[in-house]
Amino acid sequence: MRIMLLNSSGSPNNLMGRVIAVANQKGGVGKTTTAINLAASFAAAEVNTLLVDCDPQSNATSGLGFVKNPDRGSSYHLLMGAATAEEALLTTELEQLWLIPAHKNLIGANIELVDAEGREYRMRDALAPLRERFQFIVLDCPPALDLLTLNALVAADAVLIPMQGEYFALEGVSELLDTIERIRAGLNPELGIEGVVLTMFDERTNLAQQVMTELKNYFGEKLCRTTVPRNIRLAEAPSHGKAALVYDPRSKGAESYIRLAKEIIERQPSAVIAQPSAETSPAKTQVGEAVQEIPAAVPEMDKTA
Ligand SMILES: Nc1ncnc2c1ncn2[C@@H]1O[C@H](COP(=O)(O)OP(=O)(O)OP(=O)(O)O)[C@@H](O)[C@H]1O
Ligand SMILES: [Mg+2]
Repeated sequence: MRIMLLNSSGSPNNLMGRVIAVANQKGGVGKTTTAINLAASFAAAEVNTLLVDCDPQSNATSGLGFVKNPDRGSSYHLLMGAATAEEALLTTELEQLWLIPAHKNLIGANIELVDAEGREYRMRDALAPLRERFQFIVLDCPPALDLLTLNALVAADAVLIPMQGEYFALEGVSELLDTIERIRAGLNPELGIEGVVLTMFDERTNLAQQVMTELKNYFGEKLCRTTVPRNIRLAEAPSHGKAALVYDPRSKGAESYIRLAKEIIERQPSAVIAQPSAETSPAKTQVGEAVQEIPAAVPEMDKTA
């Protein structure tokens, strides 16, 4: 399977990386699950991808199987200017996925940087040298509109907002949208909204359908077509230190993130997705089919998965 990202001159793999911040100041809405599994799905589509853990909780770091280590180069070191992004890169079990980990010492950066010059630009400047090397850089933000999230939003080209498909889904999101507007007015005029993705979504209920209609009216085309169902495999995978598509590639959760990655790749203006052609290049396929190419880690499919 191969996805070719071409720039306007048609040469592959020299597209400037797209930096996507996964943000919502509401806790537990699926930011980290989305960041890990979207990044893994980009990588499975043979697109060089970097996941940056910007949250002191370090759930994206542990979710990919890395143990806590305050001395290892991390997003804290990037913000403090104590390591380059290159020095903090970790390889993962997926060939085209890299991680810049976090550690709980990152919480201190909020305070340590308070009077620092250019404190909002630290992450952007640190990641700049890597933008040509990765087609996607995914930033997992903490559940707060603090200096850490601000750094991620200033570094980003666009924000992906995970929202739980519940009755009060829109409550609180206006604060995030106001923050995005303020950042656009000053620190990062180019910041866009990549999309709004419904997580832990049970499409069978009337309530979920009502919430979906309400969000569609509010966000229009920004509401992703792909929704992520509530799926036990997505919740289990991080405790095994694996992305869902490694832990159980045939689970509904893994499949939904592969579809989301495909939807986002297709939205990129400069992305050219190689069409599958059985005769000439059997290795090329679209990312939505990637799941069929990855050997199932679990032979029997769990009916609940
Ligand atoms: N689609 C899903 N199906 C089932 N469980 C899910 C799903 N998405 C997330 N979860 C679980 O819900 C909990 C919260 O998810 P997650 O950690 O991704 O949210 P978060 O927004 O990153 O949280 P925080 O705000 O604390 O950073 C986790 O236990 C996770 O495993
Ligand atoms: Mg999180």
